[in-house]
Amino acid sequence: MTLHCQKAGHGLPPVLRSATANLLARHGSLLLGWAARYGSPLNLIWPEALEDNFAALQGALTESGVQHAIYYGAKVNKSPGLMRAALKTGAGIDVSSLYELRDATRLGADGARLVATGPAKTSVFHKELVDSGALISVDSPEELEDLINVLPAKAGPQPILLRLRPSDQSKSRFGMPADAIVQCLARLLGESRLRLEGVHFHLSGYRWENRAAALSEAADLITEARRMGFTPRMIDIGGGLPVQYVDPVSYRNHLAAQTSDDYRTGKVPESFYPYGGTLSASDWLHSFLKAEMHQGRTVADYLTREGLSLAMEPGRALADQTAITVFKISRIKALGPDTHVIFVEGSSFSACETWFASEFLIDPIHVPAARPPLSATPPVRAYVAGHSCLDEDVLSNRWLDFPVAPEVGDLLVFANTGGYQMDLLENEFHRHPMPARLRITEDAEGQPYLVPDTVEEV
Ligand SMILES: Cc1ncc(COP(=O)(O)O)c(C=O)c1O
Repeated sequence: MTLHCQKAGHGLPPVLRSATANLLARHGSLLLGWAARYGSPLNLIWPEALEDNFAALQGALTESGVQHAIYYGAKVNKSPGLMRAALKTGAGIDVSSLYELRDATRLGADGARLVATGPAKTSVFHKELVDSGALISVDSPEELEDLINVLPAKAGPQPILLRLRPSDQSKSRFGMPADAIVQCLARLLGESRLRLEGVHFHLSGYRWENRAAALSEAADLITEARRMGFTPRMIDIGGGLPVQYVDPVSYRNHLAAQTSDDYRTGKVPESFYPYGGTLSASDWLHSFLKAEMHQGRTVADYLTREGLSLAMEPGRALADQTAITVFKISRIKALGPDTHVIFVEGSSFSACETWFASEFLIDPIHVPAARPPLSATPPVRAYVAGHSCLDEDVLSNRWLDFPVAPEVGDLLVFANTGGYQMDLLENEFHRHPMPARLRITEDAEGQPYLVPDTVEEV
């Protein structure tokens, strides 16, 4: 039985893959047993969902005839199982730290499958990237000098991208304006140990339209680089492909109906991730590839005619549907005649929309420890708080109506937490151990069981 807690009439039930829906609807007692054994919160991973997400993006690219390279933005989740799934399915990995690089290498990624697009690389990280032959996106003229300083005297050419800061991002600290890219190109003319592979950018937000505009700016730099004698072969558009966490119509209705009374804070947050956007990641990619650049040429036409490959580093979109986070309810405290706070074992650092100081607008799922009574009970109105002493340690500031009264020992499951929400901020506050993360798999009879999610586990 799957019980959604929600604002009555304006629910935001999560979109679920069938494996997840099946686990929640049919294997509540397994989940309760796992939470008892491994503790709360418990992060559960389905790496094969990443393979499906990759296939959908690759399908859109193959259909357009554009050469491409998809790198999984490994920053989105600490799971080695997800990295392994990305490599297995043919993706590369975008590593943002020495540690992500080492894990990817131990899982079998060679330089041809690695890119490092992060902005603040240390010299040790640079050295290991160079040793492995990974593609490096250079964020600034300063980084270019640092990279040159770590290159061995007789190195083969090290592939690099130059990261553009598109003109509508002038306040961003990431990348460089077009004139600084041209300055870097001039510097590269005298440096045979580096080879220009192309131009990179990554934009915040989730609009394909901005990427198409930025691609036009990158195209001008490709032309300029060719004029200077370089042979660039790719444009890299970074990440930012969307995830549809909830049904778009329910989402629109929810936003239209919500008021400050729906939040324990008495305030509607200023902005939200577009949880119920109208485009899937592959729709987004189709729209981007069909966007008109100039003289009626689409992005796909431009890339094919220029013999350029389209690279990208989706994080969230590849982690879509790969994980859930399970919390055990530790106390239900009355706050007034009709309102309660539900405390869970765990904190908002383990399941919240950390990225936007906003609200994770997905209804949690209530898994009762005992069979719910068949007779109807009045719904219980509550918000959900973590176990720390911080007033802001709240998993849901939204008042939620629980159709069956929750009890201590029941579970609350936050679905689709694989993209940043699950482990971006998790820590050992109050000396609570780090939450366990395990991979779900099935035996021959379709019975789910857990296996470790470590680099060593094969
Ligand atoms: C340079 C770069 N590339 C890719 C990504 C992945 O973005 P997303 O998870 O939105 O796809 C990020 C995220 O911040 C990033 O900074």
